[in-house]
Amino acid sequence: MPQLKDTYPLYLNNKAVQPNTDLEVTDKFTGKVAFRTALASPEIIDQAIAGAVRAAEPMARMASYERKAVLEHCVKRFRERFDELAYALCVEAGKPIKDAEGEVTRLIDTFQIAAEESTRMYGEVMPLDISARAKGYQAIWKRYPIGPCSFISPFNFPLNLAAHKVAPAIAVGCPFVMKPASKTPLGAIIIGEVLAETDLPEGAFSILPASRDGADLFTVDERLKLLSFTGSPAVGWDLKARCGKKKVVLELGGNAAVVVDRDADLDDALERIVFGAFYQSGQSCIGVQRILIHEEVYDTFRDMLVEKTRTLKSGDPKDRDTFIGPMISEGEAKRLKGWIDEAVDGGATLLCGGGLDGNMLEATLLEGVDKDARAINDEAFGPLAILQRFATMDEALEEVNRSTFGLQAGIFTRDLFAMFDAWDRLEVGGIVINDVPSYRVDNMPYGGVKDSGLGREGVKFAMEDMTEIRNLVVRRT
Ligand code: SIN
Repeated sequence: MPQLKDTYPLYLNNKAVQPNTDLEVTDKFTGKVAFRTALASPEIIDQAIAGAVRAAEPMARMASYERKAVLEHCVKRFRERFDELAYALCVEAGKPIKDAEGEVTRLIDTFQIAAEESTRMYGEVMPLDISARAKGYQAIWKRYPIGPCSFISPFNFPLNLAAHKVAPAIAVGCPFVMKPASKTPLGAIIIGEVLAETDLPEGAFSILPASRDGADLFTVDERLKLLSFTGSPAVGWDLKARCGKKKVVLELGGNAAVVVDRDADLDDALERIVFGAFYQSGQSCIGVQRILIHEEVYDTFRDMLVEKTRTLKSGDPKDRDTFIGPMISEGEAKRLKGWIDEAVDGGATLLCGGGLDGNMLEATLLEGVDKDARAINDEAFGPLAILQRFATMDEALEEVNRSTFGLQAGIFTRDLFAMFDAWDRLEVGGIVINDVPSYRVDNMPYGGVKDSGLGREGVKFAMEDMTEIRNLVVRRT
């Protein structure tokens, strides 16, 4: 079993610094302190931002093969440290070890994609002579790094959602300061440890666990040109309101829906939907929360779902057989248990689950939930899914759209016309046909509409956000 250290530093202007050991991080299954990290003060954050400002020009001047080499170094080191990284996630996030290994694989993919994309930052040559006044003119545009970036990453994918900010920033040549989630800072700290082995210009990166109170500079400091935040909708939209002139990218939550049409392969849909609803205890922005089932197959599929969900093994995330591990905190588990009880009090039927022990909440299925209930309308972010019956695809699409969120949706259907119709009509950032909304590959555009956010990640798309077009107009006399 890999070992974690007792204490970890923060990374200030590319260097490990240990001003204190003030942040206690628990093993989310045992509840015991697993390690301590340094906590950045506002003064340290200020020094990091000043360092990022100094690094902006040298970073922008780096050749693409140099940026690529940094990213390739990370890929190599993450491969070498695979087991340690997975174990770190298992401890600090309570993520079942198989899911943790899956996340490390995706971390490697994300850096690999960024290494490749770093040499493909192309521009365009445009003839401007569209009318007599522009005769002899042409434009050439290229992408130029936006400058120092501010990144705030969440607890549910401590490595890969940090990577979706860090890797594109290096690929385009933007320095950054990052605040990882205080409950799970280690993933980002290890990324810092690996970046510190490279020869990035001083100030290129700072990774700074910080308390929410002391972290205002990440949002308000005008030296930072872009804020990229992944986390809860309430926090994300509040940060946007306070971040001044910065460009903002928000990857927020959702109450993702999957539609099971009458022609779906039910055995296949079952495997995928149970996974999509309950992997890492439903703590994913695209975890399945609403399961819309055609009335002709509703009863059969409901029974299949209940039977399969009851077999999911819960327990210690370090055990390879565990499917359901702990939620991130007892407070979060109690919050969701409260929503389940409230829905049942409002007339819903509890099909399975609902039991709570500390931060371990059982995989729970409900049906007959009132349309105004929090359990269906707000983001559950835990092991809860709600079954709903529909008669026509029109009705199903309307119900998917009856949400303030719009991140991803899944549809199990073999009907080509239903697919194209859904693509036109669903108010979401992405639609997945014959799989769950929880499906994501790290090079695809990923992000939401409505309350689910602004902008897209997926390396190439994040790189676009982290650059600005700089145009050159040439007049031929
Ligand atoms: C998220 O929770 O927003 C990310 C989901 C993923 O990357 O799979």
